[in-house]
Amino acid sequence: MTVVKNICCIGAGYVGGPTCAVLAYKCPDIKVTIVDLSEARIAAWNSSNLPIYEPGLDEVVFECRGKNLFFSTNVDAAIQEADLIFVSVNTPTKKSGMGAGMAADLAYIESATRRIAEVSTSSKIVVEKSTVPCRTAQSMRTILDANSTSEIHFDILSNPEFLAEGTAIKDLLNPDRVLIGALQTESGIEAQNALVDVYTHWVPKERVITTNLWSSELSKLAANAMLAQRISSINALSAICEATGADVDEVAFACGKDTRLGSKFLKASVGFGGSCFQKDILNLVYLSQQLNLPEVADYWQQVVIMNEYQKKRFVRNIISTLFNTITNKKIAVLGFAFKKDTGDTRESAAITLIKDFMQENARVAIYDPKVEPQQIYMDLSEPGVVDTQKEVEKKVQICQSAYEAADGADAVIIVTEWDEFRDDQLDYSKIYAGMHKPAFLFDGRLLINAQKLRQIGFKVSVIGKNE
Ligand code: NAD
Ligand code: UGA
Repeated sequence: MTVVKNICCIGAGYVGGPTCAVLAYKCPDIKVTIVDLSEARIAAWNSSNLPIYEPGLDEVVFECRGKNLFFSTNVDAAIQEADLIFVSVNTPTKKSGMGAGMAADLAYIESATRRIAEVSTSSKIVVEKSTVPCRTAQSMRTILDANSTSEIHFDILSNPEFLAEGTAIKDLLNPDRVLIGALQTESGIEAQNALVDVYTHWVPKERVITTNLWSSELSKLAANAMLAQRISSINALSAICEATGADVDEVAFACGKDTRLGSKFLKASVGFGGSCFQKDILNLVYLSQQLNLPEVADYWQQVVIMNEYQKKRFVRNIISTLFNTITNKKIAVLGFAFKKDTGDTRESAAITLIKDFMQENARVAIYDPKVEPQQIYMDLSEPGVVDTQKEVEKKVQICQSAYEAADGADAVIIVTEWDEFRDDQLDYSKIYAGMHKPAFLFDGRLLINAQKLRQIGFKVSVIGKNE
């Protein structure tokens, strides 16, 4: 029976960092080394200012770092020492070449796999942690097998990650399930059992699901596609609500009470963001096209189309409410992260919205409690365009508080559902007093009590409501 004593994680990002930090926290008998090519990222992991904001992460890292948890740029040494290696590198959507704009870019997976094959001096269990198209493990296996010898053998497992940002530590400590896929061979099943033993240090055995490799890979894409589909479904209904007088919160509540449907992931919004939903659905669309299943591809593509529509619909509503022009008007945007409790801005709806406001020559003031100004400038700049950041800086003001952003504004737009924007936390009377009149408020997150704010004097518009 294989017993795992030494783990290496390649990729110290939003997944590799928290996942393996929790693993080290729960398995003091296992040495965990998280490696990355980025010196800056590793230096931050080794500092008091961790590179990502995630509630509860500091406590876990500070508890184990230097004991059984290490962060390093020495990728080769960590690979050589390990019995089990998580590959947790980025798999972004391809920007050019075949499948551009849809397929996953597997260059980082391939280079990490080649590195494992080149430098390993003993047998390894290699675990796909990154989200990948179905059958990627086959390519990894081909690379590893070509480098195996009678002394060095590689087993490959799929162990996709289901954590959500903002609740990563909670999700990792108490996961709904852990999924481990393996080739159904004797050595594949032995490797699978070794990883099951690692997780059952803290996860109840009945929550650890074992499947074949391909089911595991596809289940990850399927789970994200189905979650995003629920959001697009409720967002599609929000448009009908606004046109009919139905209230999207009431519709979601009534539907969610059906135990077959359940109440989660039915919050209408300005559109889903994050690094994965769009990427993984497009990945599924591409896979379906490659498998010559065009109807299946179209079905999933519609989830992304609906998300784009929702963002555009929100912008159109703002412009038409502000008397069909926002030129030179000041728009205060509350929130820039793709959801609350994270500083991550990847694919945030805020980016699309603000770029549209800038196109209309509005003056935009942004406040987010966790996103760094430099990140905002970068996200709003157009890649490859000269002086693009200077242009952004002319049109965009980054503020230290919601009050500063709203001062002198024509409209306040709630884009991220940070708790501090709730009407029992933020002093909306003070915000109203400082704004141009009429003072408009657009709630893209169903966060505030519209009646209460109307009493202050705001002209309020909420997604999915037409009161
Ligand atoms: P990330 O960009 O934050 O981190 C990836 C890290 O891998 C980067 O720091 C990069 O420098 C490093 N890297 C790339 N190639 C490397 C190599 N050859 N050797 C060493 N380091 C290398 O990405 P992420 O958000 O952590 O996502 C990683 C994977 O996990 C993706 O496939 C993603 O789809 C999946 N995933 C992400 C989330 C999430 O919430 N972010 C959740 C579940 C699954
Ligand atoms: C999502 C999944 O929830 C995770 O299980 C998965 O592991 C992860 O993607 C991944 O593979 O990367 P994440 O993107 O971090 O996690 O965050 P979510 O809570 O899923 O939110 C995604 C987006 O949907 C956010 O913009 C959020 O505001 C939006 N959302 C979510 C809604 O608009 N309405 C909802 O009801 C729920």
